[in-house]
Amino acid sequence: MLHEIPILEDLDTRKLPYAETNGRRQVYLETYGCQMNVSDSEIVAAVLRESGYGLTRDAAQADVVLLNTCAIRENAEQKVRHRLDHLRAQKRKRTGALTIGVLGCMAERLRHRLLEQEQLIDLVAGPDAYRDLPRLLQETQETGQAAINVQLSREETYADIAPVRVDSNGVSAFVSIMRGCDNMCAFCVVPFTRGRERSRPFTTILDECQKLVEEGYKEVTLLGQNVNSYRDGKVNFAALLWRLSAAAPTLRIRYSTSHPKDCTDELLHVHQACDNVCDYIHLPVQHGNSAVLQRMRRGYTIDTYLHLIARARTICPGVSISTDIITGFCGETEAEHRDTLALLEQVRYDHAYMFMYSERPDTYAAKKYRDDVPHWVKKRRLTEVIQLQSSIALQNNQAEIGKVHTVLVEGNSRRSADQLRGRTDTNKMVVFDRQQYAKGQYAKVQITGCTSATLLGKAVEPA
Ligand code: 5AD
Ligand code: SF4
Repeated sequence: MLHEIPILEDLDTRKLPYAETNGRRQVYLETYGCQMNVSDSEIVAAVLRESGYGLTRDAAQADVVLLNTCAIRENAEQKVRHRLDHLRAQKRKRTGALTIGVLGCMAERLRHRLLEQEQLIDLVAGPDAYRDLPRLLQETQETGQAAINVQLSREETYADIAPVRVDSNGVSAFVSIMRGCDNMCAFCVVPFTRGRERSRPFTTILDECQKLVEEGYKEVTLLGQNVNSYRDGKVNFAALLWRLSAAAPTLRIRYSTSHPKDCTDELLHVHQACDNVCDYIHLPVQHGNSAVLQRMRRGYTIDTYLHLIARARTICPGVSISTDIITGFCGETEAEHRDTLALLEQVRYDHAYMFMYSERPDTYAAKKYRDDVPHWVKKRRLTEVIQLQSSIALQNNQAEIGKVHTVLVEGNSRRSADQLRGRTDTNKMVVFDRQQYAKGQYAKVQITGCTSATLLGKAVEPA
């Protein structure tokens, strides 16, 4: 699974196709949810631009507002609903026409409800229907009726579409390598919203990365719901990484997300052997108790998971590991919850994304189990997990003090233009005084302090 990331956080005024006017219809595109949605929005931007639309950063100037939505948890959907309420109010007040569209995972799930109960939505397009957007936009404009395409595909990978990287920092880019998921974890709506798993031809991935290098990008994150399942003929994920590493030796390579049940030694050896494949692996465990993992249908036990962590740390010493945790899954007892706390103590992750279980319609858990852990208990357990994990992350970060890391500068720090921020190979955010450094450069930074989320340092020499 992929993660919600802060969107539009570091907007530079770039030479991008924003505020293109010339009488073209202007589209404002807003992205919710995970990195895959950010990557999809770049495809959408490319499709729309190609068919003559302009892209604007100002919703008030837009003729078309498209929300690229997420359905992973109830609160992700709530956020979009509130936004839609607001947009509909604006639409009523407007003199000119405003087309409102819902794209992505909510589109897929809620197509009927969105159109019937939540009128004033003009367009609904699922994650595999983005090539059809120009036609859908034209249809709704001509007929005044809602236009909809939520057909899922077994083939679509948008492999031939060159993404328009609307909100990129120019240093680091997402490259989608596969779509969909066949794992059917009991809690997860993704297989229903994004459909079956399919991989993009590896040559198109290499080409896209090569182009990014030519454009000055320094880092890519390869995206897929479960990258370990990547396969194009004989090329599996480890082989793809190996080839990409050799073809683009100056490019830092990351990926998200890998499934613990399919993470092979072959892949770990690629991390170890290829300098530009980052020493960071996200291995979402979800829970610290094997019976819960079985109910979640994750396909591994805590023993096999711990064995994997040990292998990763043996094969790639110094590798940084992060995870995802869900609290309050169906039937979770207090003792099972404590097993999650014990696992955190044992593995000592550098970072964790932590969530309360949110029942999602159509999933195995929704059909077979009762969502029986009271909300306040889920919340209390989540708080315990977060508090423990922050103290572990803080201790891990404190152990970095004095060390020197190679940091790729991504831009200004959020607090001050006198400071830069960037990430270590191990994916830790570092803030340091600007000195002579600029975005896109590497700096060797000595760590001088930290919080649980960020390292503070001082550049000691160019990398
Ligand atoms: N409730 C809570 N968290 C969920 N995730 C996925 N589905 C749910 C759900 N129904 C979490 C998992 C996944 C991450 C991206 O989101 O931890 O790895
Ligand atoms: Fe990730 Fe499992 Fe959901 Fe697939 S079904 S996206 S592996 S959590």
